[in-house]
Amino acid sequence: MARMNAECGLGVVDLLEVQPQDRVLEVGFGPGVVIELLSNRAREGLIAGVDPSREMVAQAQARNAAAIQRGSVDLRFGSVEQLPFPDNSFDLVYAHGVVQYAAHPEVLVNECHRVLKPGGQAVFQVYNRISWLNALSKLMSVGLEHDDAPVLLKFSIGEFRRLLTPFREITIVPERYPVKSRLHGGWKGAVYNGLFVGTFNTLPRSLVRRFGWHLLAFCHK
Ligand SMILES: C[S@@+](CC[C@H](N)C(=O)[O-])C[C@H]1O[C@@H](n2cnc3c(N)ncnc32)[C@H](O)[C@@H]1O
Repeated sequence: MARMNAECGLGVVDLLEVQPQDRVLEVGFGPGVVIELLSNRAREGLIAGVDPSREMVAQAQARNAAAIQRGSVDLRFGSVEQLPFPDNSFDLVYAHGVVQYAAHPEVLVNECHRVLKPGGQAVFQVYNRISWLNALSKLMSVGLEHDDAPVLLKFSIGEFRRLLTPFREITIVPERYPVKSRLHGGWKGAVYNGLFVGTFNTLPRSLVRRFGWHLLAFCHK
């Protein structure tokens, strides 16, 4: 596996195992930015995607119009819990920021496993329930981004690993540590920026690494 930098600024896409002729699936592709990056890397392959939001599908199709016309990108509207592809279809399945919004995350993960070729890589990202941000949000009564989504799941590292049991090999990497922000003003903003960020970042990473807000999983079938 590519060397992983678990600190902030992680370029997850750079860590994906993509060969020029690969078939890649992005589940929940949003505006299609990653689809574009992936299609530059799998130049002779196919990048497919499924997203349950018509608005996102329209945006991503517009962004990737030329590649769609060439036949190297195929973006579909549909359920992420019932992928419209046969078993063992893809060399790589990428689902970043998606599992946490799924009503049945285990169904989504099983579907990703089903469509992945044996030996292929699947990469997932979720929010860490046992993290500095979740604790701070509760302590300071400050809501989290996407709190208003119909489903917003958070997983401990153990829960995430159990969810991924269909896979043969699983490496979980926590990331996203506190940085100064202008999102919140008043005393909460002052305590966060003036005290919390600095204090947290002086603690040895080996002690606090597991409390990163994002959990990335690099899996093999
Ligand atoms: C936070 S965006 C992530 C987009 C992209 N993967 C990224 O990392 O930038 C979540 C995406 O997952 C899709 N999605 C998948 N399953 C969903 C669900 N059950 N509920 C809501 N959105 C869902 C949304 O339409 C949206 O495109």
